[in-house]
Amino acid sequence: MSDRANELKRRYDEIAGSGDETTTACDYQLRDLEIAYGMEFIRDGDTMLDVGCGPGVALRNYASKRDIKAHGIDYSDKMVEFARENTRKTAPGLDIDFKTASVTELPYEDNTFDVVTSHRCLMALLDWDLQQKALIDIHRVLKPGGIYVMMEGTFDGLERLNFYRRKFNLPEIEADGSDRLMTLKFHEKQLLDFCEPHYELVRTQRFGMYYFMSRIVQPLLVSPESPRYDHPLNEVARQLARVIPDLEGMGHLVGFALRKRTSRTPAS
Ligand SMILES: C[S@@+](CC[C@H](N)C(=O)[O-])C[C@H]1O[C@@H](n2cnc3c(N)ncnc32)[C@H](O)[C@@H]1O
Repeated sequence: MSDRANELKRRYDEIAGSGDETTTACDYQLRDLEIAYGMEFIRDGDTMLDVGCGPGVALRNYASKRDIKAHGIDYSDKMVEFARENTRKTAPGLDIDFKTASVTELPYEDNTFDVVTSHRCLMALLDWDLQQKALIDIHRVLKPGGIYVMMEGTFDGLERLNFYRRKFNLPEIEADGSDRLMTLKFHEKQLLDFCEPHYELVRTQRFGMYYFMSRIVQPLLVSPESPRYDHPLNEVARQLARVIPDLEGMGHLVGFALRKRTSRTPAS
């Protein structure tokens, strides 16, 4: 592994030792919105996989609300142990299979899953080549017609948010998440062009309302103090976004629902 890869893995192992489930999703209200979106594609009887499952918050939600065979992988064995332990403690009746594995080399047969989800996992990969590898391996393990609900960040959504932040004299949010782990966002056109032969885009969910309230209204309201993820306004923002999800396409986290194509579309 390269130095950057080692450092990243070390930091995820360290986070797993923190015992705090919000460390893999500081913006835990946003993760709740992601989970609600993912849930729309999961049906009773499905076999599903969450890649980069971290402490297993999303999977526990999915498995407690749907009658499914739930699997989760994460490349940090400490994270996998954290997910198993939290599941034993908080949801002892749930049977979720957690495994240590990389999203670029999934240890499953072809055509295994009805649904695959990712919550900010492909953004944790170090470059576009690895992200493409992950997109192909997820495609391989999906059943024909199966859905990949990809909840990852894009530069495009961030730029639309920053466009409005500039209008209110708020500083731009940096693309690489300066205080966070590596977060390699996608260029939407490049991503969708790459996916096109393999997946059909069935829905795109943006969370503009949540971003507007938490990244524009809250900073203006609390200035000169710094905005906080646990500010009560973010809870209101989450409730609003459940009813009116988008506003002007603002915000880096985007939910793409991608259906595995059964065969290549013939050239016209
Ligand atoms: C930002 S965290 C998100 C965790 C979880 N999905 C959540 O929402 O809380 C990214 C996760 O991806 C995992 N990860 C990073 N690179 C990975 C890889 N190559 N294969 C599998 N998991 C990976 C990390 O260990 C971490 O748990």
